[in-house]
Amino acid sequence: MTKPRRVLITAALPYANNHPHLGHVAGVYLPADTYNRYLRLKGVETVFICGSDDHGVPVTISAQNENSTPEEVVSRYRGIQEKVFGSLGISFDHYSGTSTCEGHAELSQEFFSKILERGDIEEKVTQQFFCDPCQRFLPDRYVEGTCPHCGAEGARGDQCDACGKSYEQEELKDPECAVCKGTPQIVPTRHWFFRLDRYEERLEEWLKSCEGWRDNVRNFARGIVREGLPARSITRDLEWGVPVPLEEAKDKVLYVWFDAPIGYISFTREHFVNQGNPDGWKDWWVDPDVELVHFLGKDNIIFHAVIWPAMLMGQGEYHLPTSIPANEYLNFRGEKFSKSRGVGVTAEEILERFDADRVRYYLTAVAPEGKDTSFTWEDFIQHNNDELSDVVGNFAHRMLTFTAKNFDSRVPMNAADSQLREEILSVIREAREKWDDSLGRQKFRDALDRVLTLARHGNRLFDQAEPWKSRKEDLDRCGADLAALLEVVHAIGVLLSPFLPSTSEKMLSAFSLCAPEPPEALKSLGECEVLTAGGELSPPGIVYPRLELEEDQA
Ligand code: 2FM
Ligand code: ZN
Repeated sequence: MTKPRRVLITAALPYANNHPHLGHVAGVYLPADTYNRYLRLKGVETVFICGSDDHGVPVTISAQNENSTPEEVVSRYRGIQEKVFGSLGISFDHYSGTSTCEGHAELSQEFFSKILERGDIEEKVTQQFFCDPCQRFLPDRYVEGTCPHCGAEGARGDQCDACGKSYEQEELKDPECAVCKGTPQIVPTRHWFFRLDRYEERLEEWLKSCEGWRDNVRNFARGIVREGLPARSITRDLEWGVPVPLEEAKDKVLYVWFDAPIGYISFTREHFVNQGNPDGWKDWWVDPDVELVHFLGKDNIIFHAVIWPAMLMGQGEYHLPTSIPANEYLNFRGEKFSKSRGVGVTAEEILERFDADRVRYYLTAVAPEGKDTSFTWEDFIQHNNDELSDVVGNFAHRMLTFTAKNFDSRVPMNAADSQLREEILSVIREAREKWDDSLGRQKFRDALDRVLTLARHGNRLFDQAEPWKSRKEDLDRCGADLAALLEVVHAIGVLLSPFLPSTSEKMLSAFSLCAPEPPEALKSLGECEVLTAGGELSPPGIVYPRLELEEDQA
């Protein structure tokens, strides 16, 4: 007996001081959710995991600015994130957080200790910035300066946002304390480094063997490995974080990027504990047949495609990622989304005005899969009107109202006698196959476009069949054509479900009395008629009314 396919899906853990903006949604959470829904529709068993990335300096700085504690910041933002993801219909099985998840700290410490035992973590005295007035070391975002590589100002202590390069602190030019703006001094302190150089060959071998990855991800990761991997410091002089499990490092914590990806495992474990199956998680992380898919934005590629796999190799018990569909950025009118600079729209803001499915639709249609793309309100309105309203909504509405008026809201008999039958079955089959192929390769825009093409085709066939004429001349033929065309409406409802869950649910509710449930419904699309002749339809009256551009959106 072949084992059923199982896929563990993760979405990058958002920092616990972030309001998710539409760039995050389009690049990470929505594609991950669409993929999860697609697999479930096909009957694949999945677990979909996410939660907040609570440690690290951004959270402590927020806490300081607000005069509160990291715990308070985390709990407030986690609430915001869960609400936004919930309103968008993101179907996580479990949303946790790295500072509250039971066992997360212990598991992170276990990773550290195992890699240390192998001799792949080394200890070094390093020079770090220390701020006298603030009486603290200034790791990561606590210090700002000029990037040693590209000269950009406002570079952080560990990485430059402008050129994406990372470096050791003492290389940063013109350093300034991010809190008091004073000039820090350099003070020696002991830190622990992950010897990534020892993993170069294995990483190269592994990356070479990975198939079906997006070129940008694989080439970027292989390029980095080929350049040679310096040892990376994985400890920090901070109070907020997972304590380093060593007597001599009592006042230090693990670097946030060391403990964050381990959250994927600890959250999975917590999920199964909540389900009353405390050992259930092991299967998902230990069985190499389980596929592990990490969704993320391009700034996270190095961590997921190089450092995290090296951590997994060093730990030794869990399997490596199967694919890493990283996206480019969705910008706002060509600029990076930024709540602090007032650029763009947060997910909360757009959801106050529009249905989640309208947002999901647009963000998938302009998903930054191969290159950066841009959100504009004009484009949002146009995609909604020209596609969702005029093509999908209009076709379903025309078909269902015509059937209601002329056939008493029942699937007319004899679809098989329609002269459109062969063409209809073949366009449905082709749409399903191409949709399946695109979604299987995580090409969401393509897959959505297939559904649109099917709806356009349906509209054309309806016009061509002219049922409003045949209704008077040959009622049987009219009914047969209509029954065949209703198959198209039903197919659209099924194929839209990973993308637009509530629209699809509404469309399919029309057929609830006369069509099989997924995954049965999906398998038979285009193979034969799936609707029961004579079966009752309950027109849901879905229409996507056209939208007008409002003044503040222009
Ligand atoms: O870039 C970010 O928003 C990080 N918080 C992503 C972490 S992903 C994972 F490794 F946890
Ligand atoms: Zn300071």
